[in-house]
Amino acid sequence: MDRIAIIGGARLNGEIPVSGAKNSAIKLMAASLLTDEPLRLTNMPRLADTRFLGKLLSRLGVSVTESDGPDGQQTILHAPEITSGFAPYDLVRQMRASFNVLGPLIARTGQAKVSLPGGCTIGARPVDLHLQALEALGAKIDLHEGYVYAQAPRGLKGAEITFPFVSVGATEHAMLAAVIADGVTVLHNAACEPELLDLQECLNAMGAKVEGAGTPTVTITGVARLHGATHAVIPDRIEMGTYAVAAAMAGGEVRLTNARPHLIDSLLDKLEEAGCGVERTSDGVIIRRNGERLKAVDIETAPYPGFATDLQAQFMALMTLADGESRIRETIFENRFMHAPELMRLGADISVSGGEARVRGVAQLEGAEVMATDLRASVSLVIAGLAARGETIVSRIYHLDRGFERLEAKLTACGAQVRRIKDDGEAEL
Ligand code: UD1
Repeated sequence: MDRIAIIGGARLNGEIPVSGAKNSAIKLMAASLLTDEPLRLTNMPRLADTRFLGKLLSRLGVSVTESDGPDGQQTILHAPEITSGFAPYDLVRQMRASFNVLGPLIARTGQAKVSLPGGCTIGARPVDLHLQALEALGAKIDLHEGYVYAQAPRGLKGAEITFPFVSVGATEHAMLAAVIADGVTVLHNAACEPELLDLQECLNAMGAKVEGAGTPTVTITGVARLHGATHAVIPDRIEMGTYAVAAAMAGGEVRLTNARPHLIDSLLDKLEEAGCGVERTSDGVIIRRNGERLKAVDIETAPYPGFATDLQAQFMALMTLADGESRIRETIFENRFMHAPELMRLGADISVSGGEARVRGVAQLEGAEVMATDLRASVSLVIAGLAARGETIVSRIYHLDRGFERLEAKLTACGAQVRRIKDDGEAEL
C-alpha cells in the first residue's frame, strides 16, 4: 500500500486550484441512471471514489467516458437502457454513497437489488432514513443477507416525507428517486448542504421540477421523463477548507482559486478568530500567516451552515500547535476522533471524552509514522506533518486517494516537501 512522506517546516506560498466537489460529483453521476440521454458533467474531480462509482454504473448499463473537454475535466454518462439492477457488495462496500443508485434504479426500472453499504469507519452510519424515504414513495423493501431488494412495479408515487433528523445522503436519495415519481413530493427537515443545491440544479437542467434545495423544505414535482444535460460540478468546499487549514498550519500565503469561500464561512471565521489572515477574493480566498502563533479556539460541528464535520480532523491538527486549549465537539458522527491518537504520536496533547476532544497546544510536533483511519482523518495527518519537525510518514493513504485530487502535486507546487512512496518502495513526486 502506498504511503505519503512529509518533511515538515516548509512554508506554503502559491496558488491551489480547488477541484470539483467529490460529495456532489458522486450523486450527480447517479442521476445519469434517470435518463436514456447523455449527462455531461464538467469540473469533475478524478478520484478513487468517482472511479468506484463509474465502475458500478458501467455494470448497470451506463457508459462512462472521462476526457478533457472544452471546459476541463469532464465525464459523460449515458444509460440508453439499464441492463442490470444489481449492485453487488464488492462494489458498494468500497464507497457508501454508491448506495444512492438504489433510488434511481427503482424510479427508472421498478426494481433493484443493492448491497447495504460499507464506507468510512466513522460510526455505525445506518441507511434507515434512506429506506424509509423510498418506502414512503411506494417502494416495497426487503432486506436479506446484506442486500436491499426493492420493488415498485407500478412506479413511485409522490409523498410527504419528514426526516427525524438531518441526513445529507437520505435527502439526496429521496430527491433522486422522487424526480420521476408520479405526483408531488415534499421533503421536510431536509439537509441544507450546498451539494443539495448542486443536485437540484443538475436535475432541473435534465428537466426535473425541484424547488427549495438548500433550505429545510424541498418540493419535487414528478415529471414523466428526464433528458440529457451539461452541468458543472460545484467546487469542493471541503478540499478548499483543507488547504486553508494547511496554509494556516504551515504558514506563508496561499491563494485558493476556483472556489466559493462563503461555503466555508464557519471555518474562515474560526481561522480569523485564531489569528490567521483571511482575504476573500472574487474566485476564492487568500490565507496568510507570517510566523505568529495561532490562538486556541473552540469548534462544534453541525449541519450546514455550521462547522463541517468533514473539516473537524483538519482543524484539530491545526489546534495541536495553537496557544492554549481548544475544545472540539463532534455532533454528527460518533467515533470520529480516530485521528486523535495518531496526532498524539506526533506529540500532540489531546484527551477525548465522548463527543468532545480537548487539545492543549504544544510548542512543537515531531515527525513519526502514523496511520490514516478515514478520508478526512488522513489529511489531518498530512497537515500536522507539514509543521512537524523531521519526517512524517502516513500509511493507508488509500483513504486519502478517495477524496483529494493530486494532493501531493498541489502541496508541492506551494513549496511543501511531500512525496508518495509507492508500494514497491520507489519514491515518486
Ligand atoms: C455526507 C457526506 C460526508 C459528511 C456527511 C455529513 C457524502 C458522500 N458524504 O455523508 O462526507 O461527513 O454528509 O455532512 O456526501 N444517519 C442515520 N440513518 C440514515 C442516514 C444517516 O442514522 O439513514 C446518521 C449518520 O450515521 C450520521 C448522521 O445521520 O450520524 C448524518 O449522516 P448523513 O448526513 O446522512 O451523512 P452522509 O450522507 O452519509
